[in-house]
Parts: sequence; C-alpha cells; structure tokens
Amino acid sequence: MTAAIGISGSLRQGSFKTALLRAIPELAPDGFELEVASIAEIPLYDADVQEAEGFPDAVSALKERIAAADALVISTPEYNRSIPGVAKNAIDWLSRPANDIPRVFGNLPVGLIGATPGRGGTRFAQTAWLTILSALGTRPFFGDSLFLDGIRRAFDDDLRLTDPKVRELVGVYLESFATYCAEQPRG
Ligand SMILES: Cc1cc2nc3c(=O)[nH]c(=O)nc-3n(C[C@H](O)[C@H](O)[C@H](O)COP(=O)(O)O)c2cc1C
Repeated sequence: MTAAIGISGSLRQGSFKTALLRAIPELAPDGFELEVASIAEIPLYDADVQEAEGFPDAVSALKERIAAADALVISTPEYNRSIPGVAKNAIDWLSRPANDIPRVFGNLPVGLIGATPGRGGTRFAQTAWLTILSALGTRPFFGDSLFLDGIRRAFDDDLRLTDPKVRELVGVYLESFATYCAEQPRG
C-alpha cells in the first residue's frame, strides 16, 4: 500500500489544483491512497521567528506527515513561469533545520501534476520544481507527466472533476506513478 500526501500550491478556495488533488482518491488504482494536506496556515519564513519561537505547529505537523508518507504529490500552479511563492515558502520552512531534510524528504517519490485554465499546463512550474526537489534529495517521477490545459471546463460547479478525458488522463498518470512507488519504495 502506498500512502501519499498531496499538497496544492494554491490557497484559493476554488482552486483547480486543489480540486485536482481531491479527485485523486477515486481515480487512483487500488493500493494507492492520498490525503490532501494544506499549507494555508504556514506563515512567512523568518529565521528570527524560528530562532525565538521554534517551528510553527502547522510546519511541524506537515513535516511529520511527509516524513511518514510513502509518496508526495504536488499539484502546482504556475506563476510567472515558476512556482508560486506560497509553495516555496512552505518548502523553505519544511526544509529547516537542514539536517532534518533526509528524514523528511530523503528518497521520497514525488509526482508533479498541474493544470491551467489557459494554455501551457504548468510546464514551466513543474520544471522549476525539479531544482527544489533535487535540493531536498527527493526522487521525482519522470515516467509520465500531467500537463492539463483549459482545465476550467473539466470541473462542474462543485469542483468535481467530471470531464471523462481528463479523468482518464489523471487515472493513467496515477497508475504509472503508483507502480513506480510500489516498485521502488522509499525504504
Ligand atoms: C501572479 C500570477 C502569475 C501567473 N503566471 C502564470 C504563468 O506564468 N503561466 C500560466 O500558465 N499561468 C499563470 N497564471 C495563471 C495561474 O496559473 C492561474 O491563476 C492558476 O492556474 C489558478 O490556479 P488555481 O485554480 O489552482 O488557483 C498566473 C497567475 C497569477 C496570480
């Protein structure tokens, strides 16, 4: 069984990236489970705060969830051809202290997914993530990719993923990612 954590890089209530993550449990193959974790409560990184007050509860809790997970799925928006600041800020907190990085992120299979209302499908953002993921010692999945365009039409008014073609694409990606996680577990 693979127990994955899903993080959305968008804080927006009506976020398509978060909605995409929420569709994963029903589209994933048996044996692949995903819980969505929020980064909304993580404050701006400030080394003085870390020094004086320690780690915010939201950071410590998410660190432990990632450390215990078999895999991570990042559903990323693309802002100015890179990753959103809120997502990078969360990673920066999660990567402190640096000597904890191997425990939290080491050898962690990471699936990058993204969807844009316009064109592009978050290709630049997903590429930008790779530098960060390499710094953390994770194991990004390259066996398949998910760059979804024109995503607005794929969801109904309640942000349920209803488009059959998109559901199929997500399902195929998850099948492949789940196999990767099962065959090369984090250990
Ligand atoms: C500051 C900002 C910069 C953006 N830059 C890009 C971009 O470079 N490429 C792109 O495809 N979309 C860009 N967008 C559009 C976002 O991708 C879009 O708002 C996002 O996919 C919405 O995601 P959500 O529905 O998960 O909140 C940008 C949006 C914002 C707010």
